[in-house]
Amino acid sequence: MARIDSCYNIADLREVARRRLPRGVFQYMDLGTEDMVALRNNRAFIEQTKLLNQVLVDVSAIDTSTEIFGKPTSLPMAIAPTGIAGLAWYEGELELAKAAAKAGVPFTLATGSNTAMEKIAGEAGGRLWFQLYMWRQKELSYEVVKRAKAAGFEALIWTVDIGLGANREHNKRNGFNTPYKMNLKSAIDMMTHPEWMMSVMGRYMMNDGMPRHANYPPQFQRKITGKASQSKALRADQVSFDDIDRLRDIWPGKLIIKGIMRPDDAQKAVERGVDGIVVSNHGGRNMDSAPSTLEVLPGIVRAVGGRATVIVDSGVRRGSDLVKCLALGAKLALTGRATLYGIGAGGQAGAEKALAILKDELRRTMSYVGRSRIGDIDGDVLWRGDRSN
Ligand SMILES: Cc1cc2nc3c(=O)[nH]c(=O)nc-3n(C[C@H](O)[C@H](O)[C@H](O)COP(=O)(O)O)c2cc1C
Repeated sequence: MARIDSCYNIADLREVARRRLPRGVFQYMDLGTEDMVALRNNRAFIEQTKLLNQVLVDVSAIDTSTEIFGKPTSLPMAIAPTGIAGLAWYEGELELAKAAAKAGVPFTLATGSNTAMEKIAGEAGGRLWFQLYMWRQKELSYEVVKRAKAAGFEALIWTVDIGLGANREHNKRNGFNTPYKMNLKSAIDMMTHPEWMMSVMGRYMMNDGMPRHANYPPQFQRKITGKASQSKALRADQVSFDDIDRLRDIWPGKLIIKGIMRPDDAQKAVERGVDGIVVSNHGGRNMDSAPSTLEVLPGIVRAVGGRATVIVDSGVRRGSDLVKCLALGAKLALTGRATLYGIGAGGQAGAEKALAILKDELRRTMSYVGRSRIGDIDGDVLWRGDRSN
């Protein structure tokens, strides 16, 4: 794939995806919410976080592998849940999961994705995690959890930072909301991207018809143009820390809570016995006034005090960003857009390219800061403004 071969960084993959995808699909993937403040905050803090060279250290045998929940991973990262890969590429979730398995990192399937979890479990290989929303009608969520358990998923990530839902005005303008509503603008948008029309929508139409929410309970598995997401039963606005106990009763695997931004919330989750916490502002897609996740990470790591695994996401675009996440106390980072751009640019090959780029950049950064092993990356690699650190 010539276009992928000439991509040297995640921004290049983003540009290929931007040209290939209809504007509505690309903006859904790429943008944040409202005024895009949280999106910018995430990147700004990462860019302001600086690393110090440590020189004259033997870095000839750098090892980027580590372990997460007692099992190996080739990089200190996993793929975040994103319910869009299946519109960027035909069965894009499967392509992304295969790329993750090949690269040796865990993949998380989102509740809202278009490919059925059983198909992913049967065909992708690798380590598979499943993301959940806790709906108002909780039995419906429990059904999904039981399905994920039967399909053999290793970990369950419960996402808790959605409130009453996102106010993404760009999606409303271009019709790319849930349910998807075609208007003249979005029809022209799609028609002017014939390769995407044929290779993504055309293939869905030839096989199962319009993409659907294949992981929803059967009565809500309508097409993405349907009204399932507007159902009161599927609102996620009646939740509490007690729900962790309910999930524990039915989920025997690792339980992770995603969307924590406060030390006191982290503490409450840890007291309920979660295995992991994802410090996340949903990639700047939900509350636009959120601080960056790396800014709040150290306080949360202190509050957790080693009682659960702390994971972070929102803004990772370079291998050096992974070093910063670890230096600020995370065990692992998730990538949402960085790997999605790869899918949007070229399916599995594009996602593999994204992961290869991140790995190469990570290795180089480890060589600059003089650390050959992931476990050796700590706060000492950070520039703290005076040179007494
Ligand atoms: C297009 C898109 C769709 C997403 N869908 C979900 C989702 O269904 N469930 C979820 O927990 N998070 C979802 N997220 C958030 C990601 O899991 C993750 O928190 C975020 O993308 C991290 O920021 P980054 O994109 O800067 O890496 C989505 C993110 C994107 C970009």
